[in-house]
Amino acid sequence: MNDNAFATSASWETQHTLEGSRSARAFSPSNIALAKYWGKRDLGLNLPANGSISATLKDFGSFTTVEFHPDFAEDTLILDGMPADAAKVRVVLDAIRARASSIKDRARVQSRNNFPTGAGLASSASGLSAVALAAAGALGLDLPRGELSAIARRGSGSASRSLFGGYVEWKRGERADGSDSLAEPIASPEHWPLAALVAIVEAAPKGALSTGAMERTRATSPYFEAWVEAAQKSIAGIRAAILARDFDALAVAAESNCLRMHACAMAAEPPIVYWRPATLAAVQRVRELRAGGTPVFFTIDAGPNVVVFCEASHAARARGALAELPGVHAVLRTEVGEGARWT
Ligand code: PMV
Repeated sequence: MNDNAFATSASWETQHTLEGSRSARAFSPSNIALAKYWGKRDLGLNLPANGSISATLKDFGSFTTVEFHPDFAEDTLILDGMPADAAKVRVVLDAIRARASSIKDRARVQSRNNFPTGAGLASSASGLSAVALAAAGALGLDLPRGELSAIARRGSGSASRSLFGGYVEWKRGERADGSDSLAEPIASPEHWPLAALVAIVEAAPKGALSTGAMERTRATSPYFEAWVEAAQKSIAGIRAAILARDFDALAVAAESNCLRMHACAMAAEPPIVYWRPATLAAVQRVRELRAGGTPVFFTIDAGPNVVVFCEASHAARARGALAELPGVHAVLRTEVGEGARWT
């Protein structure tokens, strides 16, 4: 998984782009939140209740072609070779079309993820950021990254962060129209080239889709307000730890942020429990490793898989310790990498 097998090929396209269409291709990586986004302050504009910070993953992402053609009757999505629901893609395409005022053409989007299906990585983050970049390219729009980030955000919040590489902050923003809620880079991958290990506990797609789960948490979890306040407060410390390359500070703050998000979701009604027994086993193992002097920390998104960060020199040891746990099917290795780009 460490070589970008598709990076320069168009093999993800199952349908050739049509004569007379305007098309462009992009690769965008997935990202893993070190300070989580969980809860919206505006559902329609997809604005977050709190800011978030993520690390962009080097090897795992989506290869996407966007093709506008006057003959297309509607926007369609072919995901990993199969027709798929285009609702979120349409939101991003509409925002791009709105900036290219004379364009009414519909688009066909073909996208393929290069991480194993069910790796539990958010394909919405990589996929929708790739759509934003490729759609802008297809229409010849030279939009600043920040503007593309705000557009990708409309499709999926976490997608706002994948336009940038390294360590990225998505600002909560204060304005009602969301114009100040976009991502910006904190530090490059070279600043701190941490390794990321994905311990795969369950290869099935995630149970509750994030929007529904977030809304249920907001509406029913008695801890929601406390979560938002604590999450917003944790941002400055996580940003400072990244800038200072202070591993211990980042480990403590990121784990605490993750556990608070899951505790808040677990307290929803009905409860949202993403964890499986092996999720907790991996958490335990990471804590043991750290207590034994190996600098590692864990985080968990909206699914059962555990992502472990460490310095590259400790990755082999940490990977071995995770791989031997019952219920951990595989441990993928990547590192912090660059953001979305043309292919
Ligand atoms: O962007 P969405 O709607 O897929 O939600 C992402 C939610 C988390 O992955 C759990 C947290 C985050 O900040 O990425």
